[in-house]
Amino acid sequence: APGAQQFIPPQAGTLAELRAAAAGCRGCELYRDATQTVFGRGDESARVVFVGEQPGDLEDQHGLPFVGPAGRLLRRAVDDAGLDPAHLYITNAVKHFRHELRGRRRIHQTPDRVHIVACRPWLVAEFARLGPDLVVVLGATAAKALLGPTFRVTRQRGELLPWPAAAEHPADFTRVPVDRAGTVADAPAARVLATIHPSAVLRADNQDVAYRGLVDDLTVAARALT
Ligand code: URA
Ligand code: SF4
Repeated sequence: APGAQQFIPPQAGTLAELRAAAAGCRGCELYRDATQTVFGRGDESARVVFVGEQPGDLEDQHGLPFVGPAGRLLRRAVDDAGLDPAHLYITNAVKHFRHELRGRRRIHQTPDRVHIVACRPWLVAEFARLGPDLVVVLGATAAKALLGPTFRVTRQRGELLPWPAAAEHPADFTRVPVDRAGTVADAPAARVLATIHPSAVLRADNQDVAYRGLVDDLTVAARALT
């Protein structure tokens, strides 16, 4: 499949324009069995961007990221870590729900490298628009999309790394911070931090311990903003 790039408007403007264009994406085969594209959501001037894996069943039905149980847990963790939920933008590495049918049930399937690579141009376009000060990578799929296939969340979670220097292709994420008056501002040092996916917390044998680990990592992220 040719990937998402050809579906991105040449003068990719606002997030709303990107979202509208993404609704028609056929950059890989995942659009065929999904209900709709689930684009990122949040403030255009968000300083913090969260990147998850892909929409789940509920997200696919509602057209919005993280509206299901994982999203509920994530919002609680954001709150407990002292991050301001008003200044977040939340998106996914892959924007269609990959699943297989088992009877009438739709079972989540982890996206493959081909889907991550095909969908990456949307992520790059979102970052070009947002130029965040802090990127929070949730789980292995987002880590593969942004930090490369050799990044190990289990080994490097909770570490503040320089952004975009730590990205797999830093030049794709060059930051040109523009303030609301349209002038280029001095860039504060931007950071990226990877942590466990909220769905993995829900699946953990000891949910309390896993949840505390997530909050600890997000607390490191929150401190980096001040
Ligand atoms: N899990 C994700 O990674 N993204 C969502 O939007 C929902 C669940
Ligand atoms: Fe396009 Fe991404 Fe959906 Fe594939 S998963 S069709 S690349 S939006």
